[in-house]
Amino acid sequence: MNDVIHKDFLYQALQPILFRQDPETIHEHTLNLLHHISQIPVAGKIIEHVYHCENSALQVQLWNKTFPNPVGVAAGFDKEGKAFNPLFALGFGFVEIGTVTPLAQPGNPKPRIFRLPEDHSLINRLGFNNQGVAALVSQVKNNPPDGILGINIGKNKTTANDSAVDDYETALRAVYDHAGYIVINVSSPNTEKLRALQEQEALHKLIDRLFIIRKELVMQGQPHKTLLLKIAPDLTDETFHDIITIIHEFKLDGVIATNTTLTRNDLRSPSHTENGGLSGAALRTRSTKIIGKLYQEFGSELPLIGVGGVFSGKDAYDKIRAGASMVQVYTGLIYRGPAIAKFIKQELLQQLEQDGFSSISDAVGADFR
Ligand SMILES: Cc1cc2nc3c(=O)[nH]c(=O)nc-3n(C[C@H](O)[C@H](O)[C@H](O)COP(=O)(O)O)c2cc1C
Repeated sequence: MNDVIHKDFLYQALQPILFRQDPETIHEHTLNLLHHISQIPVAGKIIEHVYHCENSALQVQLWNKTFPNPVGVAAGFDKEGKAFNPLFALGFGFVEIGTVTPLAQPGNPKPRIFRLPEDHSLINRLGFNNQGVAALVSQVKNNPPDGILGINIGKNKTTANDSAVDDYETALRAVYDHAGYIVINVSSPNTEKLRALQEQEALHKLIDRLFIIRKELVMQGQPHKTLLLKIAPDLTDETFHDIITIIHEFKLDGVIATNTTLTRNDLRSPSHTENGGLSGAALRTRSTKIIGKLYQEFGSELPLIGVGGVFSGKDAYDKIRAGASMVQVYTGLIYRGPAIAKFIKQELLQQLEQDGFSSISDAVGADFR
C-alpha cells in the first residue's frame, strides 16, 4: 500500500514552540483564535480556499445526508461549539461538538492533558469540562453551521448513574433542534462510572428512554434525528455482546468507535504514567479491530464512524476497509496540524485509485470481502 505522507512545513516548524507550552492553554488559544477568525466573514473563505480539496469520490451518503467527505472532527476538540465553522473551512466533512452536559461543570483539576510525543499520542483526564447545554445551544444559534454538525451529549459528574438517563434526556431535548446528528456518549473514562452505562441493563434503559423521546418529538412535528452511540475500546467480551444485542434490538442508527483507552502498551514518553484516556497512534490498531468486529456482526446495516489514531490517508483507509463509513480526528490535528483534513483527503484519493475503488462507499468493509 502506498504510504504517502504530506507535510505542513509551517506547522512542523511551529510545533516545537507550541509543544513547549501547556497543552490545554495552547488548545484554548487555538479555539479562541479560530472563534475570532470565524467572526471575520472573508477569513473563512480564505481558509477554505487554502484547505479545500473536494472530490465527488469522497462524498458519503448516510442518514439521508450528503457528507462532502468522510473526515470529521472528533468530540472533545470543540467542547463548547466555539469554532465549528472555521473547522468546516479547514475542509472537514463534519464536526462533532461536545461532550456537553446539562449543567456547566469545571472538570478535573489541572494539568489534565499530557503530550506523549515519542508515541504520537495524548493522555487526557478533562472530565467533561464545559459551560453547559444552554451555552452550547446559544453558540449554535448565533453561528448557523456551514456543514453537518454532530452534538455529543453526556451526564454531569454529580449525577448518579441511577439518574443518568434524566441528564441525557435533558441534553437530548435541548440540542435536538440544532444537531445534524446526536451522539450518546457512554464511553469517556474520566467521569467516574460513566462506562458502566455501557452494560446491559443501564444501556437498555438509556437507549429506550432516548428513543421514546425522539419518537415523541417526531410525533410533535420535529424531524427525525440520527442517534449514534459512542463506545469505549476497552470492553469485556460480555459488555461488547450486551452492546451488540441492544444495537440489534433498537436498530441504532450507527456507532462511533472508539473513545480513548485506559490501556498502556509499550509507550516511550515520560508522561505515559499519567491517569486518563490515551488517544492517538497508540490507540489506532485497537480501535480499528473494534470497527472490524462490529462490521463483521452488522455489515452495511450499521453505519460506523471510526476514530482513534487517524493521522493519515492510510490510517483512514484502514478504518474504512475494516468497515467504517467515515472517520474522525482529534490527536492527529495536534501532531499534523490544520492541514490534516486536506492531507488525509489527498492521500485517501490516491489509495482509492490505487485499489480501483471509485468511491469511499465501494471500499467500506473491503477487508472482509
Ligand atoms: C483532550 C481530549 C478530549 C476529549 N474529549 C472528548 C469528549 O468530550 N467526548 C468524547 O466523546 N470524546 C472525547 N475525546 C475522545 C475523542 O473524541 C476520540 O474518540 C479519541 O481521542 C480517539 O481519537 P484520536 O486518536 O484521533 O484522538 C477526547 C479526546 C481528547 C484527546
